[in-house]
Amino acid sequence: MKYIKLLFLLAVFPLFAQQGGMWIPSLLEGMNEKEMKELGMQMSAKDIYDVNNSSLKDAVPHFNGGCTSEVISPKGLLLTNHHCGYSMIQSHSTLENDYLTDGFWAKDLNEELPNPGTSVTFIVKIADVTKQVLEGTHHLNTESEIQQKIQTNISQLVNNYPKEDWQENRVKTFYEGNQYMLFVVETFKDIRLVGAPPSSIGKFGSDTDNWVWPRHTGDFSLFRIYADKNNRPAEYAADNVPYTPKHYLPISLDGIAEDDFTLVFGFPGRTQEYLPAVAVEQIVNELNPAKIAIRDAALKVQDEFMRNDQQIKIQYASKYARIANYWKKWIGENQGLTKSNAIAVKKAHEQVFQEWIKKAGKDEMYGHLIPDFEKYYDEIGPYALSRDYFYEIVNRNVELLKIGYQLVQLELVLNSKGEQAFMARKGNLINRLAATYKDYNKNVDENVFKALIDIYAKDAPKNFLPNSLKNIDPSALTTKVYLTSALTSYDSLKTLLEGNPEEVIGKLQNDPGYSLVYDIAKTYHMQVEPVYNQLNLEIQALQRTYMKALLELSPQDARIFPDANSTLRVTYGTVKGYSPKDAVYYEPVTYLEGVIEKYVPNDYEFDVPEKLLELYNKKDYGAYSENGKLPVCFIGTNHTTGGNSGSPAIDSNGNLIGLNFDRVWEGTMSDIYYDPAICRNIMVDIRYVLFIIDKYAEADNLIAEMTLVHPKKNKNKKRSRKRN
Ligand code: ARG
Ligand code: ASP
Repeated sequence: MKYIKLLFLLAVFPLFAQQGGMWIPSLLEGMNEKEMKELGMQMSAKDIYDVNNSSLKDAVPHFNGGCTSEVISPKGLLLTNHHCGYSMIQSHSTLENDYLTDGFWAKDLNEELPNPGTSVTFIVKIADVTKQVLEGTHHLNTESEIQQKIQTNISQLVNNYPKEDWQENRVKTFYEGNQYMLFVVETFKDIRLVGAPPSSIGKFGSDTDNWVWPRHTGDFSLFRIYADKNNRPAEYAADNVPYTPKHYLPISLDGIAEDDFTLVFGFPGRTQEYLPAVAVEQIVNELNPAKIAIRDAALKVQDEFMRNDQQIKIQYASKYARIANYWKKWIGENQGLTKSNAIAVKKAHEQVFQEWIKKAGKDEMYGHLIPDFEKYYDEIGPYALSRDYFYEIVNRNVELLKIGYQLVQLELVLNSKGEQAFMARKGNLINRLAATYKDYNKNVDENVFKALIDIYAKDAPKNFLPNSLKNIDPSALTTKVYLTSALTSYDSLKTLLEGNPEEVIGKLQNDPGYSLVYDIAKTYHMQVEPVYNQLNLEIQALQRTYMKALLELSPQDARIFPDANSTLRVTYGTVKGYSPKDAVYYEPVTYLEGVIEKYVPNDYEFDVPEKLLELYNKKDYGAYSENGKLPVCFIGTNHTTGGNSGSPAIDSNGNLIGLNFDRVWEGTMSDIYYDPAICRNIMVDIRYVLFIIDKYAEADNLIAEMTLVHPKKNKNKKRSRKRN
């Protein structure tokens, strides 16, 4: 009976994805190139990545470490998502000049706004350094010795691999430690804000529509890279000049149609496609529900305040969006994993895997893997859960605790590195916290604290609960902390930090906010973290051997791609609709009509700017319409994840056709389990972006910089000429 169920699962869910995957751009020749050409690609792998000549990769920098962007003009004009530029747009916004609400457009270079701390990183070269990194590790016995040796080898490579002075070497692991790649990179630090639509376009649908198709969001913003006079990276300087890129993307005005080839090029952050079933089970049943409940409580508090106070709305907009984003994603992920039977499918795969091991006579090497996974995940369970409570509550959602935790680390600096290091760190912290407190509202934070500390005390694993959270009255604790702690305002905190190290530590330890964080952090660092780290190291070693076994024992044609790790990747597919449930089919393209259908006057998520309504009523779409309609977003079968936001969607010839920004609700589990039937990425059509810049913002200065092309029309022309 069980066997029949297994056979059924395997018949329906093949062992390896038939589509999907995030591939290393320097290794596309062979299987990927062939597949891409079959899907309609006209370029070669070398057009995408080439060390010696300019190629697409030279137009696609990592945006501030978390998103992707692309260069779209010879003057370093940079396109990314509105939600990727959000905190920069917010930082320039005030009640008088509210760029979040009204949008922002620089009419010339002088009006572009600098963003200290923002950077973009280009990949110059990718090299396989697996051999060098693993050298001398084979005879070592313990996992920590192996990891130490690997770190030494990596440092050597980073220091010695040839590069220019202004460049940097970085080494990253692939296939869970079975492959290592070195990246020579260039980081530009003078990045200025050029343009952003109002949130009612750039964030249209906000959290209700987030992770959802059909979608109608114009999720884009524009920046410009500045360089020194030699076109090299430089810190901000008023006389820096627009960067001249090695390559910039031409923009196609011809649009897309279902089944067209698309390639998404960017920096996916993290996926876990090769987790064993037991790990997925833990995520679905324990970790995700805990994190969802914590964020749910924090969001409810913030939402209430934001709806009633415009000042708070500006202060908390960016923070709220960030918390809400993964809160919602985890909900979708859990639904998707449950609905797609991911755990059962993974278990079935694991049985087949055991068969392969037997057949290959590798029982001794690999036979222990699945039972060991089960043992270690069982052991790590309560530690992983405690860790999530600590990080979500102390290090993310309660601002006072988060600030307090930075102060705890300051105290640690005194113990580990001495007085001078302490004073330097103190100065830095004071500077950095200015920005934190600019957007801090004591009232909001106090209410978040009350809700979350209650959850912590009631729901976190009891064995590791800090003394200060045992048998508490959350209201009384909250009142005490927020009435008396100096951490509730920038001025009082600065006063508290005045003096020599001894005085500062004395004052900190007497502060009720600080001493609470101190106790929670101490309990975490002594009772949870060391065991978690040790078990995690064992799990990582298992994961590495598991990956090695999969690579070794899988059928020749298995498409095994390395998990995302914030390095540059290529994913490809076609424009395609999908069926989210019985009797329902979603078309792959949305139009401006859909924006109007969703329009709710003055709603904070679904309002539409007057001018956009006017343009719609006049059907004044310029060169950007298709059969009289204006396309807004489209979906495709490209396998993306967080970090791919802002990634260019590129057509078969290397032209820009869209801007990636999200995934569909049914497919949010794709980081753990990719199901090609329902996993889709969401892109904003580049013609909508151009329409907003040109017709809505009338920023023709920006359009004039770009190269607009008609690849389809030209092709048809060529063809018809031939026929004649
Ligand atoms: N879900 C998308 C991504 O993961 C977009 C997030 C930004 N939008 C929002 N409403 N929070 O980042
Ligand atoms: N919205 C995500 C991002 O910011 C993309 C995704 O998760 O699909 O990178």
